Amino acid sequence: MSTVPVITIDGPGGVGKGTLSRLLARRLGWHLLDSGAIYRAMGLAAVRAGLLFDNAEPDESRLLRLAQDLPLRFAERQGETLIFLGDQEITQEVRSPEAGQRASRIAALPLLREALLQRQRDFRRPPGLVADGRDMGTVVFPDAPLKVFLTASVEERSKRRLKQLLEQGDSATLESVEAEIIERDRRDRERSVAPLQPAPDARILDSSHQDIEESFRVLAGWVDDTLGEFFSRQ
Ligand code: C5P
Repeated sequence: MSTVPVITIDGPGGVGKGTLSRLLARRLGWHLLDSGAIYRAMGLAAVRAGLLFDNAEPDESRLLRLAQDLPLRFAERQGETLIFLGDQEITQEVRSPEAGQRASRIAALPLLREALLQRQRDFRRPPGLVADGRDMGTVVFPDAPLKVFLTASVEERSKRRLKQLLEQGDSATLESVEAEIIERDRRDRERSVAPLQPAPDARILDSSHQDIEESFRVLAGWVDDTLGEFFSRQ
């Protein structure tokens, strides 16, 4: 078992994982893994390479080669994480609902997930890691001392996602966002490999009736309990 602690935060889209993970990583002074960004960047790279089309099954073996050489890198600027594909910044481009849909299509391919596994595990560096995704606690870091699974109703998640999109200058309606969330939930939950589900030992946090501060308070309490225990065992 690694001596570097990991806190995994999994859950469906629009649930607030990204915000909570960032707040937590900042508070602890730990690294942050936004694993969804890896799948989103991979989706964009696939479209650019002419390997992903709306109405055709993706060619997994060609995507696999692309994943193995994906020139993806993250950088920090004024507390914000920037995403680069080669020399080009793609942070905004991969935030769109279309990029989310593309990510979830390729994320259902087993060999591709495997090819991206080590890239995610490499984020585990001292003093610790907060990992945000769908399968962080079930597949990528099954030995994490604290696993959290965030949930919230579809209605609440759609409202939050709509607010986020409008704030970043995108146009969307509640109906379009809700349809997108339902479709992505279905694909992420029904896929055969690493489906979206809580790890058996995950703590469930339902944030449907909580604002971000309340959720963070609950999360921070769990973290304090777990870290005390983790370090006393080292
Ligand atoms: O979290 P985010 O919305 O950025 O994730 C985009 C998509 O990437 C998800 O809908 C999911 O299909 C995929 N994903 C995944 N496993 C992860 C993170 C994201 O399959 N650990």
